[in-house]
Amino acid sequence: MITYLEEAGQFQLDTPHASYVLTVADGFLLHTYWGKRIAPQDLSDLLRLGDPPFVPSKNERERASFMDCAPFEYPCAGTGDYREAAIGIENEDGACACNLRYISHRIYNGKYNPRCMPHTWGNGCETLDILLRDEPTGVEVTLHYTVFDGIDAIIRSVSLEHCGYRDVTLRRVLSASVDLDDDRFEMLSLYGSWARERQAERLPLRHGKQRLDSSRGESSHQYSPFFALVRPETTEQQGEAYGFTLIWSGDFMLQAELTQFCQTRAQIGMQTDDFSHAFSTESEFDAPEAVLVYSESGIGGMSRTFHKLFSDHLIRSDYRYIERPVLINNWEATYFHFDLEKLKTIADEAAKLGIELFVLDDGWFGRRDSDNCSLGDWTPDERKLPGGLKPLTDHITGRGMQFGLWFEPEMISPDSDLFRENPDFAVGIEGRPRTQSRAQYVLDYTRQDVRDAIWEQMKKILDSVPVSYIKWDMNRQLTEIPRAGFRRAYMLGVYQMLERLVTEYPDILLESCSGGGARFDAGMLYYSPQIWASDNTDAKDRLRIQYGASLFMPPSAIGSHVSVCPNHATGRVTPFETRANVAMFGTFGYELDVTQLSDAEKSQIPAQISRWHGISRLIRDGALWRLGNPFRPSGYAAQQNADFDAWIFVSADKSEAVFTYIQITAEANMKSRRILLAGLDSDADYAFTLCGCEDVKSGAYLMQCGVMIPNLGGDMQSVQTVLQKV
Ligand code: GLA
Repeated sequence: MITYLEEAGQFQLDTPHASYVLTVADGFLLHTYWGKRIAPQDLSDLLRLGDPPFVPSKNERERASFMDCAPFEYPCAGTGDYREAAIGIENEDGACACNLRYISHRIYNGKYNPRCMPHTWGNGCETLDILLRDEPTGVEVTLHYTVFDGIDAIIRSVSLEHCGYRDVTLRRVLSASVDLDDDRFEMLSLYGSWARERQAERLPLRHGKQRLDSSRGESSHQYSPFFALVRPETTEQQGEAYGFTLIWSGDFMLQAELTQFCQTRAQIGMQTDDFSHAFSTESEFDAPEAVLVYSESGIGGMSRTFHKLFSDHLIRSDYRYIERPVLINNWEATYFHFDLEKLKTIADEAAKLGIELFVLDDGWFGRRDSDNCSLGDWTPDERKLPGGLKPLTDHITGRGMQFGLWFEPEMISPDSDLFRENPDFAVGIEGRPRTQSRAQYVLDYTRQDVRDAIWEQMKKILDSVPVSYIKWDMNRQLTEIPRAGFRRAYMLGVYQMLERLVTEYPDILLESCSGGGARFDAGMLYYSPQIWASDNTDAKDRLRIQYGASLFMPPSAIGSHVSVCPNHATGRVTPFETRANVAMFGTFGYELDVTQLSDAEKSQIPAQISRWHGISRLIRDGALWRLGNPFRPSGYAAQQNADFDAWIFVSADKSEAVFTYIQITAEANMKSRRILLAGLDSDADYAFTLCGCEDVKSGAYLMQCGVMIPNLGGDMQSVQTVLQKV
């Protein structure tokens, strides 16, 4: 998968459909090619090294011109490259300059794992390490490139070692930078807000820098650590797409810069604005892994590569292979207002309907009748739960269901015993009031004693009652950052605590959450196979949120529930059946008071659960082909259609698939809509029942001629069908 052409000084990483090529020229490491697969050969012509006045070795006179246009694989600040740098090193006087030169390389089986961080893992991979050195400071930078068998992705990470004599400060260490040789790109990225996460936006690049980032201490609702550069003609199923994401849950930046020579520098890494890391001699530093995906089969192909890589080589939980229980969560059912009796009645009804796991959300501890208090006091509230959790868990397990519990382990309420006893546990700057958000502060997770204080409390609960599932929430952003480098250290502290949890309780199904989807990123997948995607459970809005999420994250990770109507977030009413069909794009569960449902709705639940068990393997292990796009047509996204959404999940051997179609808006005088399926075996015949009619059609027919869906008679009506190869 990795070759070195010694004469040309060229490294080539090959994946099934792509090649990624680097060249050492005059000691500089230059990006040479990334695109459709090509046989290893000398590609140094592409570097324009002979173009006047840039000839590097023969022309010291024009060194700066060379620096400002050469395609650097890991660009440096302060020595003539005025585009965005990947690394910034500042000396004691505040001078910032760096010039990395090639020292050596190594190609080996296996991979390098950044220390104390989530990372990809597994057999069947090969790695190229390239060692570079900045002579004056003695800082050594190793660029790590890993390719996994059969996957069109390149995993990059960066590690630093200070081999010099004087301490320096790292001002930035990005995880990946790629200089692409042209400007024919549009940038596909995700923006959003609370309850409106991951809205897809696709816009042409313009000269200058287009940047998305987070300095909130979490990957955030507002922007996601994902973007793709796609050709103007690229569609869901055709054309080139270059996807980038970061295996990191904290602050990040991503950027595409269109330069004076109409080249595109694409970058992703930890946030750079106020990044600062004291780097003393003999110390080491790791930047998180970045994942770079090339697809020549459109945006869909790019997404499927991310999904496969993350399912096979990032998620560690056994739940990536095994069936997850269908859960019911009491948050939208009761919010903070429940007692043992109320929970029991919901659990009884849920058990009767076939629901398998009961999740007790916020409000069970301290004296938490609202979100004003008690975070940090993880002892059951005896007023609501006399005798603690045990009578409830006995009741639930006695009904044959598993039990799950909500925690917000990184937070502390000013009104809590923990804060009264340890006011220094909360993040803050001395002499400055702390800013409250949702009436809470953030715990200083850089401190082991603080983490231990929470761990001991959680452990006591986990050892006293049978907890099969945990929802790990994080409901505010960081403010009053006490010192440089804190936010990175905070994230590493969170990862340490998560590592402890999954190591000591490996069987617990962990769902991470952050006020809905503020930490919906690849970093969290290493610990939790599923992530709550949004506090907005409205089926129509979820089409967009889930579409955006699926651009880079596997659908099996998208926490998705059926809730009541009118929906609590939007007030919208949608059919119960459609709510289930939309929730089946993710983890599938319920978040409502089953005792309050109409008999007609209740009667649909057992059938939905059994349908889910029939298809959950396809959602988890199959390939997703998006057949619609719930975003409105606008500008360059004119091929999109807001009136419907559709998708199909196809098993790896193409013997089985599940197709779902949503009629978002009904129109008067509407013709039936033709939907071309995808991902099937052209030569095979498939049996299915659609809109009440049984049929058998070839894969070729279904993909080239399609299926006809009549007007379903109203907004947000839907159909779902399983196709079986015959
Ligand atoms: C966050 C979560 C919700 C719920 C509440 C509880 O907002 O996203 O699902 O758990 O916290 O306070």
